[in-house]
Amino acid sequence: MSDTSGTPYNGAMRLSRTSAVLGALVHGVDLRTLDPETFAAIHRAWLDRQVLLFRDQALTDEDLVSFSRRFGDLDQAPVQETGRRFVDGIPEIYVVSNVMQDGVPIGSLGSGEAVWHTDMSYLPDPPKASALYALEVPATGGDTSFCSMYGAWDELPGPLQRRVEALRVKHDGTYNSGGYVRQGVRPTGDPRTSPGTIHPLVCVHPETGRRALYLGRRRNAYIDGLSLDDSNTLLDEIWAYGTRDSLTWRHRWEAGDLVLWDNRCTMHRRDAFDPAARRVMHRTQIRGDSTQRGAVLSV
Ligand code: SIN
Repeated sequence: MSDTSGTPYNGAMRLSRTSAVLGALVHGVDLRTLDPETFAAIHRAWLDRQVLLFRDQALTDEDLVSFSRRFGDLDQAPVQETGRRFVDGIPEIYVVSNVMQDGVPIGSLGSGEAVWHTDMSYLPDPPKASALYALEVPATGGDTSFCSMYGAWDELPGPLQRRVEALRVKHDGTYNSGGYVRQGVRPTGDPRTSPGTIHPLVCVHPETGRRALYLGRRRNAYIDGLSLDDSNTLLDEIWAYGTRDSLTWRHRWEAGDLVLWDNRCTMHRRDAFDPAARRVMHRTQIRGDSTQRGAVLSV
């Protein structure tokens, strides 16, 4: 499977890597009209590179939903910070935006930083993938960075791998990545009692068989069975490996970009941007199946 810069991949499709460890720019495809062979090549490239970027797309919400559905059933979008659902008639679309309409935000996450996270990991069955489509982007800021959690596992020294391989982490459902309290949740700083789900810390990717750290987000995370202090010390150590610059790729958005990422083996974060600028992004979530995400019980 060739994926060096600009080399043919499938028909007119070309791939070029966006960083050493993850990400590829896919050239020469219109996501509205993919034949089965090109879709199969995109699927393979996504599993291989973890994050794919498609530029110059012209997608309606319906096009975004039908492209996303080729990867599996979709989850409904999470409820917005204001309690509203998003796009009328299309409950699968989550709007990420700082734009206000009649004094109410049309989407989530505002214009501040969104910290490192993987989508909706506070649920028992988080989405396996997300597709984010850029409708309006600010002239500067609002870049999204991605980090390989395969790489994070590989970076851990052997003794640390052995120490964490069978541990489980509580993924907090109190705050979203922008720091906003989720609708209907009472804020708490104690991860042992906050809403959320416990997942294995080290998972086996069901489609590639590779091991990856599954960290979710740092705030209010908790390693099941440890004291809070011991849990925080160990999580800080693991996170320092997991988010090294060498494992990341930063994306500068243009309108018409679609980025598809694998939540089982990546995390992402977003830079803050000028609150007076407009940023409007539409996202879908492709349903996961946690029963397929094997925990590592011994290395
Ligand atoms: C997200 O976390 O899904 C949104 C990222 C972004 O706004 O770039």
